[in-house]
Amino acid sequence: MYNEIDLDQIDIHAGPPTEEPARQYYFMAKCREWVRDFEQKNGRSPKACVVNMGCQMNARDSEKLLGILRLIGYQQTESEKADFVIYNTCTVRENANNKVYGRLGYLNVYKKQNPQMKIALCGCMMQEPQVVEKLKKSYRFVDLIFGTHNIYKFAELFAAVLETQDRIIDIWKDTEDIVEDLPIQRKYNFKSGINIMFGCNNFCSYCIVPYVRGRERSRRPEDIIREARRLAADGVVEVMLLGQNVNSYGKNLPEPVSFANLLREIEKVEGIERIRFMTSHPKDLSQELIDVMAASKKICRHLHLPLQSGSTRILREMNRRYTKEEYLALVERLRAAIPDIALTTDIIVGFPGETEEDFTDTLDVVRKVGFDSAFTFIYSKRTGTPAAVMENQVPEEIIKTRFDKLLREVQQIATEKAQKLTGQIQTVLVEEVNEQDPALVTGRLSNNSVVHIPGDASFIGRLVDVTLEECKGFYYYGKPIGTA
Ligand code: SAH
Ligand code: SF4
Ligand code: F3S
Repeated sequence: MYNEIDLDQIDIHAGPPTEEPARQYYFMAKCREWVRDFEQKNGRSPKACVVNMGCQMNARDSEKLLGILRLIGYQQTESEKADFVIYNTCTVRENANNKVYGRLGYLNVYKKQNPQMKIALCGCMMQEPQVVEKLKKSYRFVDLIFGTHNIYKFAELFAAVLETQDRIIDIWKDTEDIVEDLPIQRKYNFKSGINIMFGCNNFCSYCIVPYVRGRERSRRPEDIIREARRLAADGVVEVMLLGQNVNSYGKNLPEPVSFANLLREIEKVEGIERIRFMTSHPKDLSQELIDVMAASKKICRHLHLPLQSGSTRILREMNRRYTKEEYLALVERLRAAIPDIALTTDIIVGFPGETEEDFTDTLDVVRKVGFDSAFTFIYSKRTGTPAAVMENQVPEEIIKTRFDKLLREVQQIATEKAQKLTGQIQTVLVEEVNEQDPALVTGRLSNNSVVHIPGDASFIGRLVDVTLEECKGFYYYGKPIGTA
């Protein structure tokens, strides 16, 4: 497999190949030489820390960076006092950006203590020209800056940093390329994300993602299936299909494929027991998808269906392209076809022009749907998006009051919902030993709820049937069936 490619077989004295991914393996082999040099001088392997600051797609990108670093000889560490630190940034809300500048200050202190340390920044925030300008001027100690479109070139860029010992900045505005078969270091042995598409074409008026991730591009179904088969052969039992709008998957491929059909194919992969996906845009959720979910044994009983607002007027301003009524009707169809489905959502409070009446509509949808959980966000103004220049930005105190009210409502409903499963027998995929109590292990149900059961590290990655004995609001205590 490509994770085990022997870099020593590559002739680094010849010129680099032009085709991908061979070109990147060539530069990995070059970096490997540098690592050997480091090992000789220091009597140890260099350590790398990759900090993921964003969504599941960012997390998957971090695994790709770690795969390359591992192959060239870096040891992974959680500590930022490392020989190489990469911040994989997010810029979806303003506070994500501010955090990066704050943390860079600390990194500079570490770098002064360890002058051979290298610092890299990548991810969505780097696609914003004003960010890169600021970094260029005021954060000169950063060695490498790259973006979301050229992440596959990480080995080549890092080789350039090592060779020149100079600062390298390379940001692309967009790309058509999807490079397959680069190494990946998974965080979990038993579950994995799979990118099925990149970018977004929706341009919701508040959202920066289409500007920093580019236009929508789907991977070919055969590449996705190949990856799923490889993962299954490697012990993965749960996959999470990733895209900003998975329901529009495949529409722009030379031979169009629907997301529902892709799911049918993944369902056939032996060894994969659970299939999840995110994110689903309500406007593109087809009846075909509902039917496939209802008939499936493997697709999890959970759908994340971002609402954003319950007011049809605000939804129009947000360019979401559905109404309050359409959203509610969709939920009804989903529940009719899949009665045990858990629904979760994202809601933004304080979008420009949001009135008390609009907010009441949001509360109304929240109550009518009864979400199993909801991520609530305070609207954050993103420069360059249409909403940023809208008049009627809502005052902070009003947003805060609405936000608190919404959060209370969401939490109360979620607690009531959770109680309903108490006493049932369900299957848990065990993920880790419980941090607070080492006699327990923690896992998730098909509907994504968290369950603690007695067990030890040998349970990790196993699917265990349990009785849900007690509900503690947002999680359960369970007992494996057949145990006393
Ligand atoms: N593609 C996904 C969402 C990706 S961003 C979708 O369409 O649902 C994740 C969430 O961040 C969004 O659902 C939205 O609720 C929130 N978000 C995006 N931009 C935001 C902004 N400017 N302010 C506050 N929250 C925002
Ligand atoms: Fe942003 Fe909308 Fe695309 Fe989601 S669908 S990433 S919210 S523009
Ligand atoms: Fe953030 Fe980029 Fe994801 S902006 S939410 S990391 S796509």
